[in-house]
Amino acid sequence: MNQSSSNPKVRFKYYGTPGKDFARFDVNSPLPEEVEPTPRYEAHLGLQIFPTLPLIPLFNWAFSGLAKKFGFRSMIGSSLQTWMPANLSRLRPDKFSDEYFVERRLNGFNPGKLKRVAEQEWQYAVRYNTGRYQVEPGGILPEYSEARFILRDRSLHVHSIEYSWKEQVINCFPTDGQYWEDAKYYFRSAEYVFQEIQSHLGRTHMNMDQYAMAFYRNVIKSPIRELLWPHFEGLISIDKKGASLIIGNSGFIPEASALDSNSVDGILAEEIAILNYHWSPARQALPDPIDNNYFDPAALAMWELLEKYVSEFFVNNQQEIQTYWHEIEDMSKDLVAHSIFQPKEKLAINDQKDLQQLCVYILYHCTFFHSWVNNKQYEDGGDIEYAAIGLWDEDDPNYDAKKVEKRHNAQVKLMWTLANVHYNPAIEFAPLPLKKLLWEYRDRIEPGIPLEWIMMSINI
Ligand SMILES: [Fe+2]
Repeated sequence: MNQSSSNPKVRFKYYGTPGKDFARFDVNSPLPEEVEPTPRYEAHLGLQIFPTLPLIPLFNWAFSGLAKKFGFRSMIGSSLQTWMPANLSRLRPDKFSDEYFVERRLNGFNPGKLKRVAEQEWQYAVRYNTGRYQVEPGGILPEYSEARFILRDRSLHVHSIEYSWKEQVINCFPTDGQYWEDAKYYFRSAEYVFQEIQSHLGRTHMNMDQYAMAFYRNVIKSPIRELLWPHFEGLISIDKKGASLIIGNSGFIPEASALDSNSVDGILAEEIAILNYHWSPARQALPDPIDNNYFDPAALAMWELLEKYVSEFFVNNQQEIQTYWHEIEDMSKDLVAHSIFQPKEKLAINDQKDLQQLCVYILYHCTFFHSWVNNKQYEDGGDIEYAAIGLWDEDDPNYDAKKVEKRHNAQVKLMWTLANVHYNPAIEFAPLPLKKLLWEYRDRIEPGIPLEWIMMSINI
């Protein structure tokens, strides 16, 4: 019944209680027809699930002869990880080196986390606080983990890692042999959990869901519809799928990590509660020049080109935007009413300047930032030896080797699919003025991320 309604406010129904639950499409409602995935999207998705298909029972059954012939069955179990296509770390003989550790903190799947520190032997640090959350019995997740870096001659060098485990503070240095390697592994595991929940799901999928909802429910005739529509393609559909696949009780993160589903929801809500569209990447860019920092220049270049693109769009559509300004007022009311950010009023769209800022913010997250944190997932998370979203203590009575193996297999399979569905690269599908700007700025965006990896929307 919802689906056939001509009222977008009926078709796009919010989940939960306004201001209490973070604003998103109600996953229990049917997906409105206009946001259903296209057949071309389904085909792209299918292509990327293919490497793991022999492991799906139905496929095994249907192709059992073939599977036997090619030995696909032997992929089940411990050998799966070696059957998967190589990821970046598997191609790096130096993947455990301290140089590579620094490189991935700058340019890996969770960028923008280094903070300048004053009055210490080290100048930069990345810290993950996990202590407030519930960890499963037998799971290894330090209460906090902080990696520290020295700045020398425009480059960063790792100084030490401090972490707390069972309320004991441990300081590790690069000269500490196996203890040092363990400290780096624990850090990478904590980073992985936060990468998925905060940077990927929080800042991109769910943060953008609240803007998409306010947009779909209110913007019909305004030219803003034409500007934002292609950048929201697939978002609500994938978030609806992800609600059970990724974060639900039996979702990937609670299943594969040491955190339970309540903790995952808590981290997610806390992240969304600190985000609003009056922001730009200049706020997080490192204050010192660092030669192999490719993320900040790429992020700043992307923001600059999107400002140009959006500003030109506004100049060309000024009059019509004004004519349908009442739609923007309604969008603003929905944003404010459903926001969990405080003060809520900060999400209001008061004038064209606000609207322009909001459009740049949406485009930045739907194109560049999601492409970075999503498409690089397999680079770091496709190799258990390098980074596991969940670590388990072999000496704990709860340790179950088979279960751990299953969790690790689930990790590499999911990372493969998520990172490789490259549906609608912006350089192919963007409107001509945006394509031209991307091409013009390509030298600053690369080598942080290949231009062809920047997608039009969050659809996976
Ligand atoms: Fe994603």
